[in-house]
Amino acid sequence: PEKCSSVTEPLRFDCYPERNVVVTQELCEARGCCFIERDQASGSRQGVPWCFYPPDFPSYVLESLNQTELGMVGLLRRKVKAYYPRDIETLQLSVEFETDTRLHIKITDSSSPRYEVPLQVPRAMKRAENPAYSLDFSREPFGLVLKRRASGVVLLNTTVAPLIFADQFLQISTTLPSTFLYGLGEHRSSFLHSLDWNTLTLWARDVPPTSYNLYGSHPFYLLMEEGGAAHGVFLLNSNAMEVALQPAPSLTWRTIGGILDFYIFLGPDPNMVIQQYQQVIGLPAMPPLWGLGFHLCRWGYGTSNETWQTVKAMRNYQIPQDAQWNDIDYMEGYRDFTFDPQAFSTLPQLVEDLHKHGQHYVMILDPGISSTNPRGSYWPFDEGLRRGIFINTTEGQPLIGQVWPGLTAFPDFSNQDTHQWWLENLKRFHAHVPFDGLWIDMNEPSDFMDGSVDGCPAGDLDKPPYVPGKKGQNASVHYNLHNLYGLMEAKATASALIQIRGKRPFVISRSTFPSQGRYSGHWLGDNRSEWKDMSWSVPGLLSFSLFGIPLVGADICGFSGTTSEELCTRWMQLGAFYPFARNHNTQNEKAQDPTVFSSEVRTAMKEVLLTRYTLLPFLYTLFHRAHLLGDTVMRPLFFEFPQDMVTYSIDRQFLWGESLLVTPVLEPGADSVIGYFPRGLWYDYYTVRSGAYWEVGPAPLDHINLHIREGAVLPTQKPETTSGASRGNPLRLVAALSPNAVAWGDLFWDDGESLDSFEKDNYSYLVFNVTQNVFTSTVLHANVEATYVTVDTLTVYGVRGPPTRVTINGEEHPFSYLDNQVSPALCVLHSQPHPCSPQAPL
Ligand code: GLC
Repeated sequence: PEKCSSVTEPLRFDCYPERNVVVTQELCEARGCCFIERDQASGSRQGVPWCFYPPDFPSYVLESLNQTELGMVGLLRRKVKAYYPRDIETLQLSVEFETDTRLHIKITDSSSPRYEVPLQVPRAMKRAENPAYSLDFSREPFGLVLKRRASGVVLLNTTVAPLIFADQFLQISTTLPSTFLYGLGEHRSSFLHSLDWNTLTLWARDVPPTSYNLYGSHPFYLLMEEGGAAHGVFLLNSNAMEVALQPAPSLTWRTIGGILDFYIFLGPDPNMVIQQYQQVIGLPAMPPLWGLGFHLCRWGYGTSNETWQTVKAMRNYQIPQDAQWNDIDYMEGYRDFTFDPQAFSTLPQLVEDLHKHGQHYVMILDPGISSTNPRGSYWPFDEGLRRGIFINTTEGQPLIGQVWPGLTAFPDFSNQDTHQWWLENLKRFHAHVPFDGLWIDMNEPSDFMDGSVDGCPAGDLDKPPYVPGKKGQNASVHYNLHNLYGLMEAKATASALIQIRGKRPFVISRSTFPSQGRYSGHWLGDNRSEWKDMSWSVPGLLSFSLFGIPLVGADICGFSGTTSEELCTRWMQLGAFYPFARNHNTQNEKAQDPTVFSSEVRTAMKEVLLTRYTLLPFLYTLFHRAHLLGDTVMRPLFFEFPQDMVTYSIDRQFLWGESLLVTPVLEPGADSVIGYFPRGLWYDYYTVRSGAYWEVGPAPLDHINLHIREGAVLPTQKPETTSGASRGNPLRLVAALSPNAVAWGDLFWDDGESLDSFEKDNYSYLVFNVTQNVFTSTVLHANVEATYVTVDTLTVYGVRGPPTRVTINGEEHPFSYLDNQVSPALCVLHSQPHPCSPQAPL
């Protein structure tokens, strides 16, 4: 029919997304949809749906709309049933103008309550006075049209396809104002998503990073509008879902439970969008300083002594290392809260030795609790049973699945009693092995069985009418909560660590959900020792910057497969700039820690780690800004250059904060690397030479390109082999002048590990400024820690011409000047260490 052929391909919204069905004309028309087979000859694109909604497909009608204190509430009614079972006839629409840059739109069943994600979200007290957005409604069919006031750009228009709201199938589509869309995790993909009929599934799943749905679920996207403005959209929903992207450009959310609960953030710049998102999901925790040091791990240290040997070898070569980890090898029969009394008999001594050397110990914990031990022999299971803290089957018995130790029960972390039980287990273990941090793995949760020993029960939760995604565990008894498992476990774990150690918790989790950053960091899971996997890590980590989880890394040198010396060197160089830097390896592969390589490579690895340790005061300050404001640590280039569209697709380079550009080598056999240098001066970190625009930089095997952006002051420190030792050293300040000779930077400093040091005022905060040939350091906040901060050297990049004299607080001081001809010169000033005091001009 005419009405069908009038719908152009990019605007065909899939009426039959089911994957296990061959969609025939008959099936399609039974749904009241249009059927047009793809005509390959006409150049039609792969992925265009053959069965799509006609323009007049019945949807909801907006029957009423009333003003409320914070916005409005409306009633939606569907007159014609949709084709999924139990579709809901009347819906309540509620709109709250929460802030000038945040809009909250909720659609749910108007007559009975439905599952909502148990996340604490802020409540607005009054209606936004001067919103950056305007919202219009279409009555029949119902739709929302959201515009940015300043530009008139339409950010959302949901009239393009019908709204469907059945008990187990909820779907809403919108147009997008551009194709520059990021986020929607967890996936392995380029940072900038393809909108070429690309469907992304969100369902936490234990699978090595492929193009399918991975360990965590993050229903949030950031979109760059024309002109450099940005907005973000968060669907607060924890059910299995998928997001279909198509070239209109447009997007369809499809979820199989819960409600439609949207937050829209108006920025207007990308950094502000991410800040605004984190005001809803919560700001990330401040990590302990040692968490930002180098971590070493592997699966397959056969014994505690073997683990210890590695630590000793690292010390012997004076390679920086803050934490040694153990994988499941340390356990007895892979049971949590045990350690192998033979192979790991010296574990307590190893941990003691680490502590003596200012190092830390982290071990793995899996949620599956072994269920097959004789009663009375394994307290965690016995006690868990007694307290009833395991996830039950529909029959009310603990569900038994299978993980490393064999048959296991799964703690239900949505229950506070479980948190108490978890704490007690950790306490008992800590009394023997005083660990410092925890690695929570397998918490999607992973289960080697399909469901349980009894399979999956019959019923709508296990056989939903629609199954998103390509692969996976489909649905389970914890239909609604599955995607929250890692978040809830992280919350219990961080809280236990606080109660046991009384210090800032360090937790790394595999599965994640929005608000995870409050409790843990994340690593990207089981990558391979391949060049491709190394390059995928950059977009992977950048996405987590958008998700409010700044403490992220990928297994350096690769987890599975065999690494090579060259790959591992390049990966150590890149990994030295992961916010969380851990080298981790699978079992039965040869060792890949820095000590096992040739002296040349070992030295290159050591050098790059020393560079990381040099930069720790800067990195730590970035984490403080993340904790305080929601700034990103590992940052995409376009966040700093939103007007420069070349940066929109860059995911092979990244920034630390706003001013340190990292350009890693991601290919084998390279001796140079191409990088993009957005407008402005960039100083080579090592040579001070400035670069601009596309540049091929030298990249011999012992070198990673780093550039400092004009206008930045970086606080650095002479490095030692632990962050604890480094932090005692005086500062070395590096000022990279802009062409008009100004620069700015800051430093957050505290004891590196006590709880809530910012909240309790136990910190120092300094701001550095250069203007008119004067460098000023201003102490904006001080406590006793501040007196420990001293300055050793100040290096100024970009000084025009040799200075005649340099004074510190009015007194002349010696200095050295380097005229390297090629570009602005370098001035090095050696001062006496001196305590920072308010307004101490140099
Ligand atoms: C999982 C983890 C991996 C770990 C292994 C053994 O595959 O992702 O990091 O080494 O389990 O515990």
